[in-house]
Amino acid sequence: MYWTKKHVMVCTAIHCQQKGGMDVAGRLRLDVIRKGLDTEILVNNCGTIDLCDVGPNIVVYPDNIIYHGVTVKDIPDIVAHLRGGPPVERLLIGPGEARERARHDFYEAAVEPNPIGPSAEFETLAAEHGFDAAWVTEQQRRGFIARKPGVDDGPETITVTTKSRARYGV
Ligand code: FES
Repeated sequence: MYWTKKHVMVCTAIHCQQKGGMDVAGRLRLDVIRKGLDTEILVNNCGTIDLCDVGPNIVVYPDNIIYHGVTVKDIPDIVAHLRGGPPVERLLIGPGEARERARHDFYEAAVEPNPIGPSAEFETLAAEHGFDAAWVTEQQRRGFIARKPGVDDGPETITVTTKSRARYGV
C-alpha cells in the first residue's frame, strides 16, 4: 500500500467488542505509535470478519493472516510480528486450525445428502459437532444458514447457504 508496509484491522463489531476488542484496538494503536511504527503500520478498527465466536479478531495485510482470541496481553507478540518477526502461531486461525476444521466437518455433514433439511435435525447435528443453539443462531445472523417456516404443516427448515458452502468448500 502507498505508505504502509502493513495494514492491521481490528474487529470492534459487537461480539469482538464484548470480549475486549476495543481495548485491543486502542492498546495496539497506542503501542504502534509509542514505538514510532505508525509511519509504516496502519491500525484501523473494522466491522465483523465473520469469525464472531472466536474473537476478538485481527486481520494483518499483506500477510493475509487472521489472529483470533486476541487480548491486550498478546499485543507485545503481535507488535513483534508487525516489526518483522514471525507470526504469532498460537493466535492464528485459518482453514487448518482446529475450530475451522470443526466447522468445515460440520458443514460437510450438514449438506449431505441435502443442504436443506428440518431445523431440528440441523441443530442435533450441530450439537453432535460441539456447536450449541447460540452458535446456530449466530450462523443464521451472519448468513451461513437460512431458516424457512414449514410449508403445509411441514417442519421449519434450515438451508446451508452458498456463503458457508463457499467458505468451507462443501
Ligand atoms: S464481531 Fe468480530 S468477527 Fe464478528
